[in-house]
Amino acid sequence: MSEYRIDREHLAALARREAERFAATHPKSAELASQARPHLLSGVPMHWMSDWGTPFPLFVSSAAGNRLVDVDGHEYLDFCLGDTGAMFGHSPAPVAAAISQHATGGYTSMLPSPDAARVGALLAERFGLPVWQVCTSATDANRFVIRWARALTGRDKILVFDGCYHGTADDTLVRLHGGDTVPRPGLVGQVYDLAAHTVVAEFNDLAGVEALLARGDVAAVLTEPALTNIGMVLPEPGFIEGLRALTEHYGALLILDETHTISAGWGGWSGELRVVPDLLTLGKPVAGGLPAAVFGMSRAVAKRAEAFLAQKEAGHSGMGTTLSANLFTLAAMRANLESVMTPNAYATMQDTAAYLAERLTALFDQHRLPWCVTQIGARCEFQFCAERPRTGREAEAAMDHELEAALHLYLLNRGVLITPFHNMTLCAPDTRRSDVDRLVDALGEALVELAD
Ligand SMILES: Cc1ncc(COP(=O)(O)O)c(C=O)c1O
Repeated sequence: MSEYRIDREHLAALARREAERFAATHPKSAELASQARPHLLSGVPMHWMSDWGTPFPLFVSSAAGNRLVDVDGHEYLDFCLGDTGAMFGHSPAPVAAAISQHATGGYTSMLPSPDAARVGALLAERFGLPVWQVCTSATDANRFVIRWARALTGRDKILVFDGCYHGTADDTLVRLHGGDTVPRPGLVGQVYDLAAHTVVAEFNDLAGVEALLARGDVAAVLTEPALTNIGMVLPEPGFIEGLRALTEHYGALLILDETHTISAGWGGWSGELRVVPDLLTLGKPVAGGLPAAVFGMSRAVAKRAEAFLAQKEAGHSGMGTTLSANLFTLAAMRANLESVMTPNAYATMQDTAAYLAERLTALFDQHRLPWCVTQIGARCEFQFCAERPRTGREAEAAMDHELEAALHLYLLNRGVLITPFHNMTLCAPDTRRSDVDRLVDALGEALVELAD
């Protein structure tokens, strides 16, 4: 059997046909798009929402469990799940109940509610870090831990990995180019030199990390345990443990961003590996998809932070946001941690995701496609390369945005939603094997159509 080849003309024709099909079958979304255009930048509440590969935005009317319904009445199997915000399903019942219960009890007060202490204890039990803070987005959590790391070590540099994404925290919006730290392409309004306070290493390159740490000016290494935003890059055995040892040796702090790798298990990836970082950040699903995030710290870091606060001059710390840890969010977070993000939910999600990974692998084998599939608990990614990438650069080289956009639109037109900008899928507790079958079968039909 000959190797599968994508015919580029077929691909362009398929993309055109699918765009026409989308336009014809989504008249209400089209109408809302034209109503929104005059008063919303790029016609959407956040400009990047227009970057999905649809001819105009898909407007959502409701979502529940692993299903989403658009304004034209089409139902989708949702494998995007708000890019992890709804990883445990849309409107999980315990969170919905907590929200209803608190609907008339006030939303925000700049003061803690009784749920605060319980949330801290639940987080400490789950992640093995004893002290926590609550904020409003994973971006903020990362911004704040970077501040803490700099304040506590008295060093100015942050070390991140090429291909990382930690939200829009400015210090992390960098790439590695010819050995230099450069701004990510495409940034809007970037005026100061990001390389002044950030250094970048290749993922899975402990020697490179050590060379940078040895300079003695790195406050913290900030990383996801696996890169999940440039396709997917798994850590090689010993890499995260190596970061733990090197940061300790050179007096830097280790920050693990578990916002996506929380898919790995009940205690995140670090819980599975039993590596305890100095600081840990987590946003997106932590309050069931409401805007909320948390960051945790070791006892040693917390002691240093308390001492720092006790002696610092009066004035704003640079960490805030008025709505952080509001009454409503704390109630939702408590319900979510107690009753939704449970070991049982993880067992179901991981089992379904393993089935998805198996079926995708079999599909690509059947078509003799040199594509790989990687699973992190409830999360799967397929990449257009035979070998799993070792670095962000390798992962980026495997991307094919034209192909990816056409496949995503083909799936969307057949009632299946996967995460835009790469080939990421999440299985919620409600996702069934029959839902996985629908995804893989539809993808298989697209591959048959695209075969040269
Ligand atoms: C690993 C990681 N950290 C942080 C963030 C930022 O999350 P948010 O956009 O909710 O601030 C993201 C977003 O994709 C992420 O993938």
